[in-house]
Amino acid sequence: MGQVVDAAVVDRMVAMRRDLHQYPELSWQEHKTAERISSALHELGIAHHRLLGTGVVADLPGGQGLPAVALRADIDALPIQEETGLPFASTNDGVMHACGHDGHTSMLLGAAELLVRGGDLPAPVKLIFQPAEEEGAGANALIEAGVLESVGVIFGGHLDRHFFTGTLVVAPGPGSASTDYFTIRVTGRGGHAARPHETIDAVVVGSLIVTAIQTIVSREIDPSDPSIVTIGRFEAGSAPNVIAGQAELEGTIRAQSPKVREHLKKSIRRVAESIGQLHQAYLEIELTEGSPPIVNTPGATTLAYQAAVAIAGEKRVRRHWRVTMGGEDFANYLLSVPGCYIRIGARPSTDQGFPAHSSRFDFDEAALSIGASWMAEVARRAGAALESGELDSLDRFEEVDEDES
Ligand code: NI
Repeated sequence: MGQVVDAAVVDRMVAMRRDLHQYPELSWQEHKTAERISSALHELGIAHHRLLGTGVVADLPGGQGLPAVALRADIDALPIQEETGLPFASTNDGVMHACGHDGHTSMLLGAAELLVRGGDLPAPVKLIFQPAEEEGAGANALIEAGVLESVGVIFGGHLDRHFFTGTLVVAPGPGSASTDYFTIRVTGRGGHAARPHETIDAVVVGSLIVTAIQTIVSREIDPSDPSIVTIGRFEAGSAPNVIAGQAELEGTIRAQSPKVREHLKKSIRRVAESIGQLHQAYLEIELTEGSPPIVNTPGATTLAYQAAVAIAGEKRVRRHWRVTMGGEDFANYLLSVPGCYIRIGARPSTDQGFPAHSSRFDFDEAALSIGASWMAEVARRAGAALESGELDSLDRFEEVDEDES
C-alpha cells in the first residue's frame, strides 16, 4: 500500500473539515473558507494567491519548465438547513455542507502537506480550491481567469456514500451528465372556452410538446446511452372557461455523451417548432448551456487507477459503476486539459445514513486520509509521466462510434 498518512495529518484534516462544516458558505460567498484555506497553506509554507475573490490557487514547485499537475477541490456549501445534530453542525442558518465539499477542501490541504513533506516533485503541482461548484459556474469562471495556464493534466474526486470507505472508483469515459436547461414560450390566441375555433389553444399546443418531447429519448437515442429530458414547469391559463393564449414550459436535458447532448438539443428545437407550426402557434425557444458531461481521458485515468491501486489495493478499486445523471462542473476543465475525476467511498460500514444534498448528510471521516493519499500519489505519478513525456502521447478522449453488432 502507498502513502501512509501519519496521525497528526489525519487529525489536522478532521479538525479542518469540522471547522469548515461549522461555517459553511454559499457559492461566491466563500470568504471565510478562503481565509481558512489561505492560512493553512501559509502554515505549510506554500505560495498561493486568490482568484476571483474566493478562489485560492497554490503552486508547489517542481520539475523546471514542465507543465503542472492540477488537483482541484470545490469549497462551497448548499442552501439547506442542517438537521444532523452533529456537535460541529452548521452555525450558519440555512447553509450546510451537504455535499462533502468541506471534506474535499480538507483532503486537498492534507494532500498538500503530504506533497510538501514527500520531497522534490517531478513536476509542479497546482492546487485549485474552487468556489461555486453548486452553481455550476465556478470552474468556467476560474478557467476564464486563466487557472489552467501551464496545467498539463488535472485530477479531482468526490466523496461518495454509495461506496464503503476504502473503496476508490476510477472509471474511464463518462463520469457525470451534462446539465442544460431550456424554456419554450408558446404564443397562441386566447379566447372563450365555448368557441375554440376562434382561438389557438396554448395549453393544447404545450401539452403536445410535452408528450412529443418525451419520444426523443425513447425513440431517437440509443437506449445504452443514458439521457433524460424533463419538463419541470408548465404554466398556462387563468380560468376554467378561458382558452389560454400563452404557455411557458421549462425543462432540463441530461446526457453522458457530448454527441447525445447535441442531438437532444437539436431535437427539442425541431420537435417543438414542428408542433408550433402544425397548430399555428408562435414559439420562442431558449437553451441555456450548463456543465458538459465529465469525460475522463484514457491516459489520466490510467494514472489515476495506478495511484488508486497503490493507495487502496487492487481489490478495493472499482473500474465501473452506475454513472450519475447529476452534473459536476469539473467537466469544464476536461474540455481543455486531460484529466480524471474519481469517486472516493465514504460510507461507514455501520450505518445507512443519508444521501448527499440531504439535510442529514454526513460522511465517514476515515475517507479523508484515503482521498488525500490518492491525490498526493496521483500528483507524483502524473508529474513523473509529464517529466518522462509519457503524458504527451496521451490523446484527448474521442468518442468512437461502435460497430453495430
Ligand atoms: Ni458535490
